[in-house]
Amino acid sequence: MWNRLVQTVIERLVATDRIARNLRRPESGILGAITSSILKKANQPVERNAVKHLDVRPNHTVLEIGFGLGYGIQHVLDIIKEGDGFLHGLDISDEMVRRTARRFQKEIKDKRVNICIGDVACMPYEDNTFDRVFHTNCYYFWPDMDKAAKEIYRVMRKDSVMVTALVPDRVKDGVNKGALKYGNPDQTRYVDALRNNDFVDVQVQDFYDAADGLYPWYQAVFAYVKKK
Ligand SMILES: C[S@@+](CC[C@H](N)C(=O)[O-])C[C@H]1O[C@@H](n2cnc3c(N)ncnc32)[C@H](O)[C@@H]1O
Repeated sequence: MWNRLVQTVIERLVATDRIARNLRRPESGILGAITSSILKKANQPVERNAVKHLDVRPNHTVLEIGFGLGYGIQHVLDIIKEGDGFLHGLDISDEMVRRTARRFQKEIKDKRVNICIGDVACMPYEDNTFDRVFHTNCYYFWPDMDKAAKEIYRVMRKDSVMVTALVPDRVKDGVNKGALKYGNPDQTRYVDALRNNDFVDVQVQDFYDAADGLYPWYQAVFAYVKKK
């Protein structure tokens, strides 16, 4: 009885540790599948809300960093299909790239979407490429925030906007459960890095989404680029 209890506790700890690693960079296999189901259940509203605040126009070139299962990509596609816009998605996980590329294979073939593997700190895009950039539940895992901010600024166009949306109570739960032990969700660290790397009017705003019954309060961080 006692041995069984100890074993269960150890298994739980190992699972949490592996899940925490997977949230940072989802892998294939059973833990990747569990992580995907967590992302699927928890993060669809926040992806939708990030895109809502991004004010995407049908002709925009948009980047999502750390797209995970691609829910945000779908929302952007719904807008740009009315024009000649284009969506780029970048993620550091082979598994997320594989799954999302499969999900959007038609749009990739039609040259509306490009999915690639990569790190926010060193992105394979030309300077001044994007009108809009967004990410959700991703900056927590960027080890060098200044490097990431500098790199994002480089690929953004003059008068462009970046939005990240987050659900603070969900993040707090994640921290308490150890699920974010391989990340650092400190919002001040993120906001300071943006301000220190030329983004302007960086603001955090509070919003309420009644459709997300469990966690209706969310925040969006807006950051603007005013290049010459
Ligand atoms: C917790 S998941 C969130 C996925 C999705 N945005 C969501 O909210 O459901 C974090 C994602 O960021 C990606 N990621 C982590 N570090 C990254 C980095 N340095 N550059 C690009 N993507 C990264 C991971 O591979 C993973 O897909």
